[in-house]
Amino acid sequence: MNTPNLRPLGLIAALCLLLGAITIVSTVRASRLGGSPAHPIPTIATEDYGRKLLAETPEYLGPDVADPKMRYMNGRMSCGSCHLGAGAEPGTLSLPDSVTKYPRFQPRVGAITTLEDRINECMSRSMNGRPLPKSSPEMLAIAAYIRSIGAEAAASGASRKKVVGEPAGFKAPARAADLTHGKKLLEEKCASCHGKDGAGLLASANPIHGYAFPPLWGPDSFNNGAGMHRVLTAARFIKARMPLGNATLTDDEAFDLSGYINSQPRPEMANLDQDYPDKKTKPVDSGYGPFIDPFPLSQHQFGPFPPMDAYYKALAKPAAKK
Ligand code: HEC
Ligand code: HEC
Repeated sequence: MNTPNLRPLGLIAALCLLLGAITIVSTVRASRLGGSPAHPIPTIATEDYGRKLLAETPEYLGPDVADPKMRYMNGRMSCGSCHLGAGAEPGTLSLPDSVTKYPRFQPRVGAITTLEDRINECMSRSMNGRPLPKSSPEMLAIAAYIRSIGAEAAASGASRKKVVGEPAGFKAPARAADLTHGKKLLEEKCASCHGKDGAGLLASANPIHGYAFPPLWGPDSFNNGAGMHRVLTAARFIKARMPLGNATLTDDEAFDLSGYINSQPRPEMANLDQDYPDKKTKPVDSGYGPFIDPFPLSQHQFGPFPPMDAYYKALAKPAAKK
């Protein structure tokens, strides 16, 4: 008690902190749960609007928005359902590094693609929707936001650091995924958030606010042309990231879970036969045909993958030894 005159100041500081915390919590609640469905929509292509578009996508582009022209997606997931922390969180499917990778050749479309083209691939596939016009405020805002988190990560050196706490990378077991085991694991380790039926949990009674826990399959989930529908891509994500906050699965568990999730019904994308104009570049775990190899579709969907890898390796280097 040598400084009794500081006590009221401490009390005031504590009160300010408390008030601040209450304001932040209620603002976050209001923005996540959306007090009124007619909340104002920013029309300027700011980075802040871009972050909102990734974090609360159905709020702006979903099938429930008031303006029919803005209903760009049929699903109700957010970009942030897969790109955690609105893409800014380091780790699998983190977006800050993306900027440096474009423009580049994308075998799936057989053309050079820009960052904007790649965003639209996720719009058409992961969001089960349609492309955003390149000059729309929404596309400009999303691209500006992704570029800004890229610049931030580059400036801080964060993009070169190893991610702390992420498990070792997924290695595919040399067998087919065991769907019965996957179902059992899902009930044990995932159903508490995503539901036994994989349908997820809406954030509120009004579906415009999207999901608190996103669906793993069903009408609001990603379509069968999405990267997450590839069993190895999904297993890589699941092992690195799920169960959320406690990523402790083995390769075998992540593989069986991914197989089971991707064996369940989901929206279908049109014209998938036109993907990968050069079929030699088609990943072996693409969940849809046609392929130029003799393996059945079910093997592409669920493995085992090593024989298919060996087939394409031999095709690429017919003369090479080893
Ligand atoms: C169902 C999960 C899912 C959702 C939802 C999703 N994405 Fe993706 N996204 C992926 C996967 C998988 C990839 C491929 C990553 C790779 O190729 O390594 C990807 C790739 C990307 C890339 C390229 C990353 C890179 O480094 O090459 C961008 C940019 C991107 N997504 C943006 C978005 C945006 C914007 C949205 C929302 C409109 C969105 N995504 C929604 C799963 C998703
Ligand atoms: C504690 C709750 C929780 C648990 C348990 C959990 N998840 Fe998730 N999962 C989430 C949330 C939340 C997201 C979306 C990320 C976000 O909003 O930050 C997500 C996203 C996903 C996604 C990508 C989006 C989608 O819907 O397809 C997949 C796939 C997934 N989880 C699979 C699993 C699997 C498999 C398990 C069990 C091993 C699991 N999750 C356990 C909360 C959970």
